[in-house]
Amino acid sequence: MLEIKDLNVAYGHARVLHDVSLKVETGQMAFFIGRNGAGKTTLLKTIIGLLKPQKGSITYQGDEISNLSPEELYQRGLRYVAQEKKVFGNLTVRENIEIAAFAAQEPLGQALDKVISLYPKLESFLKTKAGQLSGGQRQILLVGRALVGDPKFLLIDEPTQGLAAIVIGEIEKILSGLKDRVSAVIVEQNLAMVNRLADRVYILKEGKVAREIIDKSEIADTRGLEEYL
Ligand SMILES: Nc1ncnc2c1ncn2[C@@H]1O[C@H](COP(=O)(O)OP(=O)(O)O)[C@@H](O)[C@H]1O
Ligand SMILES: [Mg+2]
Repeated sequence: MLEIKDLNVAYGHARVLHDVSLKVETGQMAFFIGRNGAGKTTLLKTIIGLLKPQKGSITYQGDEISNLSPEELYQRGLRYVAQEKKVFGNLTVRENIEIAAFAAQEPLGQALDKVISLYPKLESFLKTKAGQLSGGQRQILLVGRALVGDPKFLLIDEPTQGLAAIVIGEIEKILSGLKDRVSAVIVEQNLAMVNRLADRVYILKEGKVAREIIDKSEIADTRGLEEYL
């Protein structure tokens, strides 16, 4: 379980997150929604150890983790897929997966199987330079790479941003297949997808939690959510 209490985060003197508190139970998929600039990316970066809070606590499986480095959090099974869909563009898809397998000390064959089983079409791209993939394929590669090793908790920032409807459908299918296998926090603006996948929704507004929605029928009601986008 991930629990955040009274988290305050600033860039220099500019405070961006104000007393954010939230909870994600083990096995749950939680979604963060909110307008541009609301602080969603800042929140993910703080959880994964790239930013240090001024105040507040982040506990994961009962341990305080706000002072741990991204590497230590990786070892504990947390994986971050950033908003910028950065792959190693000059390396092939296979080499991109090799790097993840090396980092996670997972046998390469097993890592390749894992990524390809997510999205079998990727097999024909193994020798393609990752920089030549479409935005959707790149996103799928990044999610696949995050699954190498033994991930327990995924943090994914806007996986469908800028993608065509058909690819968004593929990504949703992949995320849906991960439900119950891992816990996750996903930043997403596509409310239809949030309706179908979310166990919990947090609406961020100007760096604060404006609403916490844990009731399934409330999550399924997009009208309640639209005003925050
Ligand atoms: N590196 C940074 N330095 C200073 N301010 C930043 C930095 N990154 C983001 N911000 C500011 O923090 C606020 C929240 O940004 P961000 O977390 O990226 O929001 P979101 O992901 O919800 O769009 C914005 O006002 C943004 O301008
Ligand atoms: Mg963002």
